[in-house]
Amino acid sequence: MLVRLLYVSQPIGPVTTTVTTLILEQSNIYNKKENITGVLCQGSGLWMQALEGERHQVNVLYARIMANRHHHNLELLSMEEITHRRFGEWSMALVHLSKDDPMVQMAHPEFDPYSATSKDAMSLLDALLKTSSPISSMAS
Ligand SMILES: Cc1cc2nc3c(=O)[nH]c(=O)nc-3n(C[C@H](O)[C@H](O)[C@H](O)COP(=O)(O)O)c2cc1C
Repeated sequence: MLVRLLYVSQPIGPVTTTVTTLILEQSNIYNKKENITGVLCQGSGLWMQALEGERHQVNVLYARIMANRHHHNLELLSMEEITHRRFGEWSMALVHLSKDDPMVQMAHPEFDPYSATSKDAMSLLDALLKTSSPISSMAS
């Protein structure tokens, strides 16, 4: 059974390239092995991540992510059963969120994932992925 999980969190301390590179390197190895795909959005003092895969594998990874000391205030926005992956080509794509981005300003003014519906949060992720060139590890 395939699921997609979406959560938001706040980084503790500065999100240096080292922190991000480590996350992507870990994702590249672990997510490929566990057949997990997704997208990580960072910027404006937030992380927002979608994880797709078999329910058990997604639960196990989410527990590892929750235990990571680089962030706090994790809030689960949604966990839904899906028939198709949205982010199937990425073991973890990285996109940047800037509240000054004209696309974000226009479509999602005053965007705050902590109070947004999961549908709005997901549509922002979709839009960011379409309008930016994600940095990432490919799934295959
Ligand atoms: C925002 C965020 C997203 C992460 N995403 C992933 C991920 O998709 N895949 C992964 O294997 N680790 C991810 N990690 C790293 C894990 O939390 C964890 O450090 C890693 O799986 C290594 O586990 P270990 O510290 O128990 O060895 C993420 C960490 C953070 C802070």
